[in-house]
Amino acid sequence: MNDFNFYSPTRFVFGRGACDRTGSALSEAGFARVLLVYGQGSVVRTGTLDRVRTSLDAAGIAYRELGGARPNPEVGLVRTGIELARDAEGVDAIVALGGGSVIDTAKAIALGVPYDGDVWDFFCKRAVPAAALPVASVLTIPASGSEASDSCVISNDELGMKCGVNTDLNRPALAIMDPELTFTLPSYQTAAGITDMISHVMERFFSGEKGVPVTDHIACGLIRAAMEAAPRVMADPADYDARANLMWVGTLAHNGIAGCGLNVPGARDGDWTCHGMEHELSALDTRITHGAGLAVIFPAWMRYVWTAHPERFLAFAYEVFGIEPVDPADDDLAGIDEEITPERAVHDAVTCAIDEVQDFFVSLGMPRTLGELGVTEEDIDRLLEGLRVTRGERFGTFRKLTLEDARAIYRSAL
Ligand code: NZQ
Ligand code: ZN
Repeated sequence: MNDFNFYSPTRFVFGRGACDRTGSALSEAGFARVLLVYGQGSVVRTGTLDRVRTSLDAAGIAYRELGGARPNPEVGLVRTGIELARDAEGVDAIVALGGGSVIDTAKAIALGVPYDGDVWDFFCKRAVPAAALPVASVLTIPASGSEASDSCVISNDELGMKCGVNTDLNRPALAIMDPELTFTLPSYQTAAGITDMISHVMERFFSGEKGVPVTDHIACGLIRAAMEAAPRVMADPADYDARANLMWVGTLAHNGIAGCGLNVPGARDGDWTCHGMEHELSALDTRITHGAGLAVIFPAWMRYVWTAHPERFLAFAYEVFGIEPVDPADDDLAGIDEEITPERAVHDAVTCAIDEVQDFFVSLGMPRTLGELGVTEEDIDRLLEGLRVTRGERFGTFRKLTLEDARAIYRSAL
């Protein structure tokens, strides 16, 4: 087990009606004046915004509002939010009401308020954040894990880029998690969220480092729990228990607990190549949903790299799907024409597990190919150009890849 440094300061207020306790929870955390950030209207239509306003009023919390954060949130709204938070004398926290896009908008505002320069400096790595306002969230979609993560991902339309900043300053102080708020999610968003949370676990599991039983069991347990709840919410969007399980999986998948000890010394806790490759898709076309892009990229990456550490894929295959390589000496194989070598048995078991992952995503309504996302061969050069800026010439820890490897992976997914 590698040495690690894990910080997870978020308080979670979880359960039915939790959203009505937003005001009191903020007050107990010591906040009195907040900027309330939300998205493009779902919280207005569902009545959640009104419920949160009522609870803020009841707790005596003063607030200003900033709506309009879009999926793959843009830095322009972040700049507006920074101005708003500075104007409103003494804003002491930024409160997000929504999913990853809203929470990341809130996190970026929180980083930008105490900074003299332009907030994009943090995303293009021109500056490193030194301070941030506290962030709280009322989560409406389990997916990004941003409600407890150290990450913040923002798009810049002018530059055609989507970049992340990882710092413990991004860790929210408070997350209000009310599974009933997720009953209204469109099935595509539910599915994309499930894909994203499973991907967060897999990025860490396939870090390239040696297995860590305690962390591996947490990781595979989270994936199994998500896979068990997924068909239930697809069949019945108001299945509280399944929604609640997914909501908590989404948090634990990305607060860092699923990577402790698997972190590569001196680097992040995981490989994160698939996220890098997916962020280029969302930068290319901001209508591409993060989870949908991952559903295509992750299996393609797995097929390309698994031979670097077959033992990790065999552990995953067994723990998640109960798949084991056949024993070539097994008498039952005597009737099969082809010779089953030990290498062939491993190849087949790993391929079978990767097929299971991909078929599961597709069963939820996620795409299998880049073509289904409108991405073609002609787009690949542009994707690689972005990857060169965000990841460099060589990246990845499970297997070091070059931009030409990334080209091959994108191509294999067309
Ligand atoms: O904008 P509104 O109208 O609210 O609609 C949203 C949006 O269209 C809708 N929605 C959310 N909750 C709903 C709802 N509709 C009905 N009922 C509800 N209860 O769902 C759509 C997607 O929302 P979004 O916030 O974009 O989803 P998600 O949570 O998947 O966030 C995606 C963003 O997070 C980033 C992604 O790259 C992407 O930009 N990520 C952030 C991470 C982090 N900060 O730790 C890690 C992730 O890997 C990811 O990169
Ligand atoms: Zn993600």
